[in-house]
Amino acid sequence: MTHRFRIAPSLLSADFARLGEEVRAVVAAGADLVHFDVMDNHYVPNLTVGPLVCEAIRPHAGVPIDVHLMVAPVDRIVPDFAKAGAAYISFHPEASPHVDRTIALIRESGCKPGLVLNPATPESVLDWTLDKLDLVLLMSVNPGFGGQAFIPHTLDKLRRVRTMVDAASARTGREILLEVDGGVKADNIGAIAAAGADTFVAGSAIFGSPDYAATIAKMRSELAKAVA
Ligand code: DX5
Ligand code: ZN
Repeated sequence: MTHRFRIAPSLLSADFARLGEEVRAVVAAGADLVHFDVMDNHYVPNLTVGPLVCEAIRPHAGVPIDVHLMVAPVDRIVPDFAKAGAAYISFHPEASPHVDRTIALIRESGCKPGLVLNPATPESVLDWTLDKLDLVLLMSVNPGFGGQAFIPHTLDKLRRVRTMVDAASARTGREILLEVDGGVKADNIGAIAAAGADTFVAGSAIFGSPDYAATIAKMRSELAKAVA
């Protein structure tokens, strides 16, 4: 079922010793996407998982895999993630010397391209890229770690980017997801939706809770209230 609002649990906070099981559990609990954080200890000061692990979780997912690349360089690894089953591949413009080329490469590899804006990255980076994107991801924390606090100015940025995304969708006729990543929880998800997001990454809020289904259901009820 496609929801108006999509919830994308971040595997970063899952139990990596039981990853397949965790993926199945969170999908059964109502996840619309599985968010897969790739860190290289170079672009960000942490190291996680690569295409091999993406390929390993693929048969357990059953929903699109949303790959968030926090790596530099970007291009070398894109085809590997496409082969490993990524549906969306997002990257940070600061990590690629040729942003337009990387977007094209993701598309040519058969995936949906996304651009990720850090908390201090201005939305003007979307001016000549948005018509080619299927997803815009606004970071509401500095990338590298789960469990950080939501940066409030993201709400102002969301309102601006929502306007840009709506105009681009009208121009191109294509759906462009507007996703938020970092510090998203049931108690702020309503405000984040009201500011314009439609897709919500949540790591610690879901995997740190005892009942994934109850947490996702609570998030959905907050979303319904926020836009009622
Ligand atoms: C941070 C990652 C996030 C992270 C979110 O660099 O991109 O996806 O897992 O974790 P929470 O939801 O705990 O802030
Ligand atoms: Zn992420």
